Amino acid sequence: MVIAIDGPAASGKGTLARRLAAHYGLPHLDTGLLYRAVALTVLDAGYDLDDSAAATRAASSLIADRLADPRLRDRAMGEAASRISSVPAVRAALLAWQQRFAGTATGAVLDGRDIGTVVCPDARVKLFITAAPEERARRRHLELMRRGENTTLAAILDDILARDARDSGRSTAPLRAAEDAVVLDTTELDADEAFEAARAVVDRLR
Ligand code: C5P
Repeated sequence: MVIAIDGPAASGKGTLARRLAAHYGLPHLDTGLLYRAVALTVLDAGYDLDDSAAATRAASSLIADRLADPRLRDRAMGEAASRISSVPAVRAALLAWQQRFAGTATGAVLDGRDIGTVVCPDARVKLFITAAPEERARRRHLELMRRGENTTLAAILDDILARDARDSGRSTAPLRAAEDAVVLDTTELDADEAFEAARAVVDRLR
């Protein structure tokens, strides 16, 4: 069983994906980490984020060890990932990786922006997780404060709106709900309620 979870930045899809994976005993891939790792590789090597050849090389030779780097979770890396993720050759290089992961015998949970539309269009279960931008900013702000990153709520909201616009507006694999996805708005739900709602959908469709 493949569970495809998509949604905008800070919608809660990551937490939900981890919990669903643990509940159903499936491996989980946070595909945003792949894009973040490509961005970090480009920056560490001293290239500019607009250098699409450097980003494509980094995506083609990405190794799993890179996904454990704690810097991937930094606020700036989400923005950097969003920039390199609009390069079609970067997306093509990461597609094979993601599809290999999804193709394991047990099934898998993948979360990202284009899992239900591009990476796993045949997934049994597709969820599109969304929430109001102000609520997503509030959650991300709390999370970053807990990690010791000192930012303001207003700056995070700006980030989120810019990222929404870029991720939805790009021509290759834009952020959107697959036609057969179940949309779950978590604005009014806490993490437990979101999990219960998602679990009910999975149990109905599996
Ligand atoms: O999910 P996360 O915030 O870690 O993703 C970082 C960025 O990577 C996103 O803003 C998006 O531009 C890109 N991304 C993508 N496709 C995915 C996952 C992430 O384009 N499947």
